[in-house]
Amino acid sequence: MQCSWKAVLLLALASIAIQYTAIRTFTTKSFHICPIPNPNNCSPGQDPTESPDRLCEDGQLINSNISRKTHVLILATTRSGSSFVGQLFNQHTDVFYLFEPLYHVQYTLIPKMTPSKSTTDRRVMLGASRDLLRSLYDCDLYFMENYIKPQPINHTTDRLFRRGASKALCSPPVCDALGPTDIYLEEGDCAKKCGSLNLSLAMESCKEHGHVAIKTVRVPEVNDLRALVEDPRLNLKVIQLVRDPRGILASRSETFRDTYRLWRIWRATGRRPYNLDATQLTTVCEDFLNSVSTGLSRPLWLKSRYMLLRYEDLARNPMKKMEEIYDFVGIPLDTNVERWILNNTRADQSSAKHKYGTLRNSAATAESWRLTLSYDIVEFTQNACRQVLVQLGYKTVSSSQDLRNLSYSLIEDRSFTPFL
Ligand SMILES: *[C@@H]1O[C@H](CO)[C@@H](O)[C@H](O)[C@H]1NC(C)=O
Ligand SMILES: *[C@@H]1O[C@H](CO)[C@@H](O)[C@H](O)[C@H]1NC(C)=O
Ligand SMILES: *[C@@H]1O[C@H](CO)[C@@H](O)[C@H](O)[C@H]1NC(C)=O
Ligand SMILES: *[C@@H]1O[C@H](CO)[C@@H](O)[C@H](O)[C@H]1NC(C)=O
Ligand SMILES: *[C@@H]1O[C@H](CO)[C@@H](O)[C@H](O)[C@H]1NC(C)=O
Repeated sequence: MQCSWKAVLLLALASIAIQYTAIRTFTTKSFHICPIPNPNNCSPGQDPTESPDRLCEDGQLINSNISRKTHVLILATTRSGSSFVGQLFNQHTDVFYLFEPLYHVQYTLIPKMTPSKSTTDRRVMLGASRDLLRSLYDCDLYFMENYIKPQPINHTTDRLFRRGASKALCSPPVCDALGPTDIYLEEGDCAKKCGSLNLSLAMESCKEHGHVAIKTVRVPEVNDLRALVEDPRLNLKVIQLVRDPRGILASRSETFRDTYRLWRIWRATGRRPYNLDATQLTTVCEDFLNSVSTGLSRPLWLKSRYMLLRYEDLARNPMKKMEEIYDFVGIPLDTNVERWILNNTRADQSSAKHKYGTLRNSAATAESWRLTLSYDIVEFTQNACRQVLVQLGYKTVSSSQDLRNLSYSLIEDRSFTPFL
């Protein structure tokens, strides 16, 4: 039985594949907007350039009205400031925003995956994730029901992950609980006051909005999105959000206290635990490096589709960066977004300190890791992530004085202009 571990691994992979195939089989319907005025027009060899707004897919004619919408994807990692960037779209009146819908895919296919688990596990999720994203950009929210447990009945669920983080799902027509003076419902109030989520209404709301934006931390790199970027039915704009990995590590150690326990023990005792899981850090750096290298090398398929955004730049100058972001995605600015920024980036620390909150002094938070990480941990991180630090313009420090000296900035001035 010397090969038994291989057999177990094979079995596990096979079972994941079967689940995924099963789900696909039950939902082979692709795009529901598929009016067929004259299917005969759709011969297999037709040159797509002949009729730019019509495409052939599975022998059916697809009206590409969908491509008039802009589809924004915020490609991020946990504790990189993605909630903040998400809000820049969530607060826009004409944007339908979803917070991490891929949570449900992961939870269904690979319930026990942790951020540091094998790359094989992570890759297994990607096909399913792309399918779901494509459907959601098309406002087909029913597609998600395959992944929600328990399965919604009559298209109604109270299990949508972080529903309250999506303004559109907490306001009319989806939810009528807003009082006459409320501007919006807080995330917790939304879950309490809005009752179960009617996905049919959510779909209507999605269709009424001009654009769809989705935030995810569950896609490792932009290369994994190539099929979506090149899909002519979509008008995808990828905003890759990065942050200094030292800042991410510090923030995760505070937030995910169990998972990052050994890092905190290191900081507290000054000694590196022998069983420290360094991949919790190196995975972030490898993903950044691969993804950003692709983005910055400007392959043709990313032309006008990729923007690199450093969280620190956004934190230092939220209004200016927000304008650049909107310029890149090509959606008109909205005063609601400006108002939200003004209201949420002031140096008012007292108001809110929610685990996933975005209400805080953004500029100060972006570099606060310099006061909380020990020099040893910083040095270890710098060695593990040297290449990506250089690539993204984050300076390394060589003494604990430099580390703590906040008047010495570690962020090089760089302008990563989008490839237009
Ligand atoms: C496509 O867009 C046009 C103009 O906005 C609209 O009149 C038409 O009904 C749309 N077609 C479909 C199938 O949505
Ligand atoms: C679902 O809808 C049908 C038809 O309206 C109804 O008969 C049934 O009771 C509903 N099921 C639940 C669980 O509400
Ligand atoms: C959800 O909303 C749709 C559209 O308004 C409605 O027809 C349906 O009855 C609602 N479903 C439930 C379970 O209330
Ligand atoms: C500003 O933020 C406070 C605290 O979160 C909130 O109560 C208030 O409604 C906000 N104002 C606007 C205009 O968004
Ligand atoms: C802190 O950094 C500034 C700017 O580089 C430098 O002028 C100053 O001497 C440093 N202070 C200490 C205590 O190292």
